[in-house]
Amino acid sequence: MLVSAKEMLEKARDGHYAVGQFNINNLEWTKSILLTAEELRSPVILGVSEGAGKYMTGYKTVVGMVNGMLEELKITVPVALHLDHGSYEGALKCIDAGFSSVMFDGSHYPIDENVAKTAELVKICAQKGLSLEAEVGSIGGEEDGVVGMGEVADPQECKKIADLGVTMLAAGIGNIHGKYPENWPGLRFDALENIKALTGSMPLVLHGGTGIPEDMIKKAIDLGVAKINVNTECQLAFAAATRKYIEEGKDQQGKGFDPRKLLAPGAEAIKATVKEKMELFGSVGKA
Ligand code: 13P
Repeated sequence: MLVSAKEMLEKARDGHYAVGQFNINNLEWTKSILLTAEELRSPVILGVSEGAGKYMTGYKTVVGMVNGMLEELKITVPVALHLDHGSYEGALKCIDAGFSSVMFDGSHYPIDENVAKTAELVKICAQKGLSLEAEVGSIGGEEDGVVGMGEVADPQECKKIADLGVTMLAAGIGNIHGKYPENWPGLRFDALENIKALTGSMPLVLHGGTGIPEDMIKKAIDLGVAKINVNTECQLAFAAATRKYIEEGKDQQGKGFDPRKLLAPGAEAIKATVKEKMELFGSVGKA
């Protein structure tokens, strides 16, 4: 059964480790992540962006697939199904479809509007026992080939949102989605410390987990990060393994064109990436 992310994140915060959010795109992704979490006895959060939800034909399909897998693969570790960077309407749709957790990303709104919309969702999620992630300070990333540097969130604004009673807070600390550019100056630990000082026990979320050096990940966890999102790194691993299979001509040998064979190396590569991250985040054996 899907669970809210609240308990797993509070345990992570208190135990000084982080739970990974791994974004899913299809059946292979979901299966690889769930099997790895079960094997390593780690709690896990499956992230679904609005685009990925649409790709998988809609949130109800996602909920059906994930619930089916929890049962058929006999998954016993805590699993949350979480909307990633949701709009207000998207969050309502996911709640309706059976997600156990949602993110409302109101970081592009003026702070008062972000507060008002987040407060509405706090009420709805509390009634249903779901976890809610909010965001302050937008996370940069690549758009049309231009890599924007991540914003640094204002600690006072973070406090305003944290005080509404959200479960977890994503605050920009110079992190960005996708690959980091050569000249990236690194995470702003000074900002993280200031945010932590004002938000107290609120579990903090680090987006853009791909490509952040290990020592920075560890320091971020030490300073209060309890959830780390990874998406691009699984995509890169999947693509590289699939490329290798095809370049070696394996799709042209025997029944190598069978999708169950063709997609297997990519699925194994996702497992290896997820394992590496769970070990780094310290969530292994914490289920
Ligand atoms: P990356 O794609 O950089 O790993 O970021 C994932 C993320 O933050 C999803 O919200």
